[in-house]
Amino acid sequence: PATRTFRIAAIPADGVGEEVVAAGRTVLDALAAGSGGAFAFDWTEFPWGCGYYAETGRMMPADGLEQLRDFDALYFGAVGWPSVPDHISLWGLRLNICQNFDQWANVRPVRFHPGITSPLRKADHTELDWVVVRENSEGEYAGLGGRNLSGRGPGNEVALQTALFTEHGCERIIRFAFDLARQRPRKKVSSVTKSNAQQYGMVLWDEVFERVAADYPDVETESVLVDAMAAKFVLKPEDLSVVVASNLNADILSDLGSALAGSLGLAASANLNPERRFPSMFEPVHGSAPDIAGQGLANPAGALGSAALMLDHFGLPAEATRLRDAIDATAAAGIRTPDVGGTAKTTEITDAVVAELG
Ligand code: NAI
Ligand code: MG
Repeated sequence: PATRTFRIAAIPADGVGEEVVAAGRTVLDALAAGSGGAFAFDWTEFPWGCGYYAETGRMMPADGLEQLRDFDALYFGAVGWPSVPDHISLWGLRLNICQNFDQWANVRPVRFHPGITSPLRKADHTELDWVVVRENSEGEYAGLGGRNLSGRGPGNEVALQTALFTEHGCERIIRFAFDLARQRPRKKVSSVTKSNAQQYGMVLWDEVFERVAADYPDVETESVLVDAMAAKFVLKPEDLSVVVASNLNADILSDLGSALAGSLGLAASANLNPERRFPSMFEPVHGSAPDIAGQGLANPAGALGSAALMLDHFGLPAEATRLRDAIDATAAAGIRTPDVGGTAKTTEITDAVVAELG
């Protein structure tokens, strides 16, 4: 049978992004090598990020999106370094890609790995399993607003940061969450807003949620305010399955979720363009971690879990499960990076996962 070759653009970008993307490439190539010629990965690496900015004044070339457009997927590390203001590096690369490729659904599973202790008193992978679904195209990260609106100079500046909620944008992410819930053991969607205080956009979201929920009578629902949901993540985590929220709220909740699972380094994510008009992008949830970068300390589990989500996207669910099982087996065997209480280096985790696959 002919080999299916997936063309992937790797964008490690900054800090630990380089280490964890290298780990992901090694593991995916090992999977392909073991597939008996069923599939292969053809990698192209792009050296964009804060280093590129220092040389060119841009985070990516002017035609960067054109260069990426025809890949089957993008595999992303993390962007940001103290040399460049964070709002410039984030908007110049990651948000630029997500917004222009209409990757409107950001899927962030919170997985509890065997052998890794959660700070929750009673929580392990047998009890807790969530997916945070983040609206990824509008909301609080619409980039709308401005500064210096008062025209009255220093000390009197006025800035506006406006959130954008469209009925279309709310509806597509909420439907996505319900469709995902139907594929899971616990068919439940929890919608998160702050509609008591934010009476326009988030009330629209709540209304769309109620309307869409009527189309899914087989799925349990709840609407929870974001502050209460933060508490619920800690106090009643067993009551959650799919959590759908706006761009900012889901960003915060997914970091909380991964911390509860044991470390930010564990969390995976997929930025999906569900219509497949543009490539989707797979990246760990964490940032570039300048405090540990370049020392082999980065936990690659989040990047490897993101690689598993990419395999799902390619229509290789059995391979995705094999990879997740290998990550779990490595954790359960006590081979762990320092962020989850171990002493192993990034490359030792990578090698152990490859050995599990072999
Ligand atoms: P961060 O996620 O880089 O680090 C937060 C903490 O988690 C640090 O203590 C770090 O050591 C730890 N950590 C992160 N990844 C880890 C891993 N793989 N293994 C072990 N420990 C890990 O967040 P921070 O410090 O707020 O941001 C640093 C830079 O990253 C900033 O420039 C920020 O803008 C950028 N950033 C980029 C993101 C992206 O590209 N998607 C997401 C979040 C932040
Ligand atoms: Mg974040």
